[in-house]
Amino acid sequence: LTPFTYYFQSQAGSLGPLIFKNYAKPFAHPLRLENNGRTASIRIPETSRGPYPTVTGGLLRDVYEAQSVHFHWGSPTGDKGSEHAINGRRYDVELHIVHKNMKYGNTEEARRYPDGVAVLAIMLEIVDNPKQYYPGLNKVFNKLPRIVEAGTNATINQQLTLSHFLGDVDTKNFYAYKGSLTTPPCAEAVTWHVFPKPLLISRDMISKFFQLRQNNGTPIINNFRPLQPLNGRAVYRRKGGR
Ligand SMILES: *[C@@H]1O[C@H](CO)[C@@H](O)[C@H](O)[C@H]1NC(C)=O
Ligand SMILES: [Zn+2]
Repeated sequence: LTPFTYYFQSQAGSLGPLIFKNYAKPFAHPLRLENNGRTASIRIPETSRGPYPTVTGGLLRDVYEAQSVHFHWGSPTGDKGSEHAINGRRYDVELHIVHKNMKYGNTEEARRYPDGVAVLAIMLEIVDNPKQYYPGLNKVFNKLPRIVEAGTNATINQQLTLSHFLGDVDTKNFYAYKGSLTTPPCAEAVTWHVFPKPLLISRDMISKFFQLRQNNGTPIINNFRPLQPLNGRAVYRRKGGR
C-alpha cells in the first residue's frame, strides 16, 4: 500500500476555518470510558445546557454533532499507532472525535451517505518530559487501568468538555479530505480533518493503552488501519491565520 504522503495544495483561501460550538461547555453527565475489545471509547453526552458540541466549516457543508471519541495506538515495542501519515511521518497515537451530520437521524443512517460523518484526528506523540500537561486527557488516560478487560467501563467523574480532547492543538492548521471509515465496512462516508501538529504526551500515559485487552484476552495493540492509497483524492490544506 502506498503511504498517505503526497498532499495536493488547495487553492489558497478556498477552505474556511473550522467552527466549533459547545465544545467548551461542560457535559451534562460524567463521561464513561469503555473497552469495547478494539479500542477505548467514550460516548459523548449532551452538554449542561442541552445541545451537543458541534463542528462545521473547513470541508463541511453542514453542521455535525459530536458522538464519540476513541483512540488508535501502536505497541510497547515502539510501533506507531496513527492511521494517517503526514508527509511520510506517523505518530504514536491518533485520537478520533466522531461526528454525525445533524440532517441524518442516527449513526447507522448517517454512515450510508457520503456526507454522513465528520472525524477530527489529533496526533499524540510520546516524549520523555512533556512541557505541557493536559488535565482533561490525563484524566482519561488515568482511567485506562480500570478498563483492562474487554467489555468493562469506568466513569470519569471530573467535569470535562470536548475541548479538553483537543488539548492545545492548533485547529487553524489542518489537512482535510473525503474518505472512508477506518473500520469495516470502511464506507465512503467520512470527511476527515487531520491536525498535523501532535500533542506531546509522556510515555507513562501512552503505555496505559498497551494494557488493554481484547475479548480473547490478548492485548489490544496496533489497532490502526494500514495506510491507504490516496486514489487521486484531493487533500486540502489550511494553514494558520484568520
Ligand atoms: C458498565 O459496566 C457495568 C458493570 O460494571 C455494566 O452493568 C454496564 O452495563 C456498563 N455500561 C455500559 C454503557 O457498557
Ligand atoms: Zn478511528
